[in-house]
Amino acid sequence: MQMLVLGIETSCDETAVALYDSVQGLLADRLYSQIAMHAEYGGVVPELAARDHIRKLVPLIRELLEESGHSLKDIDGIAYTRGPGLAGALLVGASMGQALALGLAVPVVGVHHMEGHLLAPMLEESRPQFPFLALLVSGGHTLLADVTGPGEYNILGESLDDAVGEAFDKIAKLLGLAYPGGPSVAKEAEQGQVGRFKFPRPMTDRPGLDFSFSGLKTFTLTTARAHEDDDQQLTEQTRADIARAFQDAATDTLLIKSRRAIELTGYDQLVVAGGVGANQLLRHKLNEMAEQENISVYFPRPEFCTDNGAMIAYAGCLRLLAGESEGMAVAVRPRWKISELKKPGEAKGRK
Ligand code: KG4
Ligand code: ZN
Repeated sequence: MQMLVLGIETSCDETAVALYDSVQGLLADRLYSQIAMHAEYGGVVPELAARDHIRKLVPLIRELLEESGHSLKDIDGIAYTRGPGLAGALLVGASMGQALALGLAVPVVGVHHMEGHLLAPMLEESRPQFPFLALLVSGGHTLLADVTGPGEYNILGESLDDAVGEAFDKIAKLLGLAYPGGPSVAKEAEQGQVGRFKFPRPMTDRPGLDFSFSGLKTFTLTTARAHEDDDQQLTEQTRADIARAFQDAATDTLLIKSRRAIELTGYDQLVVAGGVGANQLLRHKLNEMAEQENISVYFPRPEFCTDNGAMIAYAGCLRLLAGESEGMAVAVRPRWKISELKKPGEAKGRK
C-alpha cells in the first residue's frame, strides 16, 4: 500500500514538517529554528517555544505542500511527535495533527521523538539492516540500545545523570559560548591545543554500558575556575583548550562504550543518531573504530541528526502502514521511555 504521510515535530525549539511517501521516500521537509529567540536567554524558554510553534506551523505546512507540489487532500496519514519533550510545545503539534486528521478523515499517530531519531538513518541511501546496535545521543538522552526491529528497543546502557548534549550545553554556558552548546563548543575546540588538559573519561574503567556526564561537567568547571584571572576571565587560548579537552573526553567516552557494546553484542552495525551525532569529531572517531573493528557505522546526514520533521514522518509511516491509528484525544507524553514502545501494529486501536 502506498501512503503519503505528513510529519510534524514541535517537541522543543524547532518547528519542523515533512512529507514522506512510503514508496517514493522523502518528498520534502521544512524547518524553522527558534534558536535565535532562545539564545538571548541562554536556553529554551518553554512558553516562548510553544507560542512560536503556533505562529510557524501553518505557514511551514503551506510551504511544504507548495514545495512538493501536493495539496492537503493528497495526505493519507498524519504523524506528530507525542513526546518526550516540552508539554506546551508538544501540544501545538498534537493539536494540529489531530485537527488535520479530523478535517481530512485520515488516520493519525503520535510518534516517540527518540524512535524518530533512532530510525533517521533509514532516510539515507546506505541504511542499516535490523538487528543493530544504536547509540542515541541528544539533549535529553544518552543510550545504547539493542535494536531487533522497529519498536523493539532493548536498552543496554544509559546516562545515570546528564545527557551528553546537555553536558555540551552546560559547558558552553560556563565558558560563555552561545546556545546551543554542541556546535559552539565544537567550534571553540578547533582552536584548542590537544593534550594541554586531560579530562576524565567517566565510568570507562568499570564494566557496563551506563554513562555519567555530571562529573565531567564539574571537572570542566573546576578547571575553568582555576585558570580565571582576577576578573574571573579566561584567556581565549585557555577557553579553547578547555573546550577541546571536554570534547575529547566526551567523544572518547562515547567511543569506548560503543566499542564495548559492539564486543558484547557481536553486532557488526552501529547506528548513531540524535543531535550530538552531528559532532564531526565523534563521527570521525566512530568511523575510525568501524574500520578497525570491521563493522559498519550509519549516521543520518548532520541536519537529520538534530530535530527534524522527516524522522517523525518516517517513524509514523511505519506505524500507520501497520494499521496503527489513535482516537481523537490530544494526549502528549512529556516523559516517555523508548523501552515502553511496541512493534508497529501491536498498539493498534490504542487510544
Ligand atoms: O536531537 P536534538 O536536536 O534534540 C533533542 O532531542 O534533544 O539534540 C540537541 C542536542 C543539544 O544538546 C546540542 O547541543 C547537541 O545536540 N548538538 C551537538 C552538536 N549539534 C547539536 N553536540 C555536539 N556537537 C554538535 N555538532
Ligand atoms: Zn531530538
